Amino acid sequence: MAPSWGGSYFLFLCMLLGFSTIAYGGNFSTDFDLLFGDDRVKISDGGQSMSLAMDKYSGSGVATKDQFLFGRFDMKIKLVGGNSAGTVTAFYLSSTGDHHDEVDLEFLGNLTGDPYMLSTNVFANGVGGREVQYYLWFDPTADYHTYSIDWSPTRIILWVDDTPIRVINNKEIIGVPFPTKQPMRLYTTLWNGDAWATRWGQVKIDLSQAPFIARFKNYNGTACVPKKGIADCKGFGASMKRGLDNENKKKLKQVNSKWVVYHYCRDLRRYAHGLPFECRRDNMAHSDNNQ
Ligand SMILES: *[C@@H]1O[C@H](CO)[C@@H](O)[C@H](O)[C@H]1NC(C)=O
Ligand SMILES: *[C@@H]1O[C@H](CO)[C@@H](O)[C@H](O)[C@H]1NC(C)=O
Ligand SMILES: *[C@@H]1O[C@H](CO)[C@@H](O)[C@H](O)[C@H]1NC(C)=O
Repeated sequence: MAPSWGGSYFLFLCMLLGFSTIAYGGNFSTDFDLLFGDDRVKISDGGQSMSLAMDKYSGSGVATKDQFLFGRFDMKIKLVGGNSAGTVTAFYLSSTGDHHDEVDLEFLGNLTGDPYMLSTNVFANGVGGREVQYYLWFDPTADYHTYSIDWSPTRIILWVDDTPIRVINNKEIIGVPFPTKQPMRLYTTLWNGDAWATRWGQVKIDLSQAPFIARFKNYNGTACVPKKGIADCKGFGASMKRGLDNENKKKLKQVNSKWVVYHYCRDLRRYAHGLPFECRRDNMAHSDNNQ
């Protein structure tokens, strides 16, 4: 009888192809290292939950012990409530070094009652500047919601719950850098961004409200950990080339027509001397949606 691999599918693939993958529900105690903030990072429920705090001295953050090349990362997050203006809660992948790669979800806090902004960005080979920013269709401080980064060699898909909000297709073929060569760690951090996060510093953080607390749970990473080199993860990457089905393409379109606040491809003031290559109309046609 054929064994039922179920959730161990990736582990199976790993053994088969000789590269190293992780397949787990996720444990904050064992999978992450403290990055900064000392005991402002609190892990509970046997590694299933974590909170990050920021006070007047410091924010806090953690990073995975492992570096990954391609994978899917899900995290339930409940953002800082009340007057959170100036706080930035970040959930992102990043490599290190000069020409780094990065995939960002950054939640910019706001005054009580004003909407959070979700700012997304991608860096490849040190080049960023590809921000798309959204308001959310719910209050992200009232409850946990799942935020996901799905990173394959052909595209990156960012999800909020069951809704894809952004697809960044690999357009290396027309010369646009895309993260495929540098392993990245997963980070979650909470920090003071009031120099830029609040309409470029117009609203200052109110530290009398501190400590600010963001909560995380149900971390699930299914990703390739290259042991010897990036070639190790090729098979894994190839196995996850999934795109969006029609229903999800529709959801993506709806989010983009309703909830986008800022799109770098539409920022003619910033790019007065010409939009980035991938934004030009001919090149947009290469993607199955607006980046
Ligand atoms: C973790 O993510 C993988 C890949 O997306 C999925 O197959 C698995 O069901 C998830 N596990 C849990 C506990 O959610
Ligand atoms: C997470 O790791 C910690 C430390 O090794 C361990 O005590 C705990 O039982 C683990 N949690 C689960 C759910 O396996
Ligand atoms: C905060 O709320 C104001 C008023 O609704 C809005 O203009 C702004 O985009 C929101 N987000 C940030 C990060 O300031």
